[in-house]
Amino acid sequence: MAKVAYYSGETFPLEMHKVRIIQKLTLLPVEERLRAIEGAGYNTFLLENRDVFLDMLTDSGVNAMSDRQQAAMLVADDAYAGSETFTRLHDKLREIFAMEYFLPTHQGRAAEHILSRVYVRPGSVVPMNYHFTTMKAHITAVGGEVVELVGEEGVAVTSSHPFKGNVNVNQVREIIDERGAENIAFFRMEAGTNLIGGQPFSLENLRAVSDLCRSAGVYLVLDASLLADNLHFIKVREPGCEDWSVAKICLEMAKCSDIIYFSARKLGFGRGGGIVTNNPDIYTDLRSLVPMYEGFLTYGGMSVREMEAITVGLDETLDEDMINQGPLFIEHFVHEMERRGIPVITPPGGLGAHIDAKGFLDHVDQRQYPSGALASAVYLASGVRGMERGTMSEQREPDGTEPLSHMELLRLALPRRVFTLSQVQYAIDRIHWLYDRRRIVGGLEWVEEPEILRFFYGRLRPVGDWQHALVDKFREDFGDSL
Ligand code: F0G
Repeated sequence: MAKVAYYSGETFPLEMHKVRIIQKLTLLPVEERLRAIEGAGYNTFLLENRDVFLDMLTDSGVNAMSDRQQAAMLVADDAYAGSETFTRLHDKLREIFAMEYFLPTHQGRAAEHILSRVYVRPGSVVPMNYHFTTMKAHITAVGGEVVELVGEEGVAVTSSHPFKGNVNVNQVREIIDERGAENIAFFRMEAGTNLIGGQPFSLENLRAVSDLCRSAGVYLVLDASLLADNLHFIKVREPGCEDWSVAKICLEMAKCSDIIYFSARKLGFGRGGGIVTNNPDIYTDLRSLVPMYEGFLTYGGMSVREMEAITVGLDETLDEDMINQGPLFIEHFVHEMERRGIPVITPPGGLGAHIDAKGFLDHVDQRQYPSGALASAVYLASGVRGMERGTMSEQREPDGTEPLSHMELLRLALPRRVFTLSQVQYAIDRIHWLYDRRRIVGGLEWVEEPEILRFFYGRLRPVGDWQHALVDKFREDFGDSL
């Protein structure tokens, strides 16, 4: 995004790219949206994409590629072992992280699988700023325990704290003393902390955690999937970093970390993942699981074409005109909703705009999944597909009890370089309408609840018949509009 001055005094994000390939979209009439969400068991993951107008489910694997990425895909070197494509990706990772070793994986959770299998034992603890669904599933599957140390401000809906992903440093000291370094598998810091609204941590906080981990002999693992947004926020929000290049901030973050893993479906605008380290012992610890589960050491389950695209995508991530496209669109989205009184997570983070479903549907009991209900209601109102990030995305305890999530969020992700500002404006307008009609919306209950990662493919139904009342109100207010 360019830093241009506007004569009117108003400011809008301004893209520093143009769109040269387009995909036609369809907006179904509200009655057909009702049929589609019923067919999907009121779970937006189970909607067919052809029934979706604006797909704001995720930014994973759906960011728009650049002309340079597409061009690079044509020169991919297809070899099972030792391909030039792998060398180019490896060299790019060496350049941006100054770390020697790279283990490729087919996506981010495969890296989480390998790290958990190698370092987590029954009874081990993995402290972190905040959990991510797939990482927690892998840690608990091998008998480990996740402990979250994000500060109180991290789970507050509205805040002016610039770094809500920071951990409480005193609690880091306490957990090392209480549990003993030998029982801590590793410490995990997640950049652009996903489940609390794409919120960053500061370089200062990362350094403090890293110092404590290093003096105790605990590895610090950086989940860099959402690194791009975190880099941007350090540059614009952290005193002392404003004049640094994002490349320099990236190197400073890497210096604090023993292991960096990432989903290249997010970082690098491609499809893949990997683990990077500078420590030969860690490399040897992890290496054998790559050919066993992923693929040979020079592709790890990724196609060579995607690896070429990721190499260029990583370069673009450090391009100062490109890196702020997501955060500035999200800031606009969040501020415009806030201006209309819609409860949203503030300050705006990365990844997407996050609506506070507890505030939006304050009449719906948390056990009836307000975030899931809101995701279905937003789809009915607009054809926009968001993602439930609340209690449905949690897992039950081994005794079957259901932990209620700290936050009930509806995430409206903004894949990079995909949507226009008028499409964002349309989403805001329909969500505004829904907010004014929110009392119509009720909760959801399970029809089919899977044991593991239930939010992906579980099926639900509305409690009561609110969905029909909402469709009737839509027709009353919008006439025969789509
Ligand atoms: N870590 C973070 C912070 C993530 O956001 C994700 C994926 C992963 C790890 C796992 O990576 O999908 O490549 O296996 N997040 C996606 C999302 C699914 O929609 O937020 P993956």
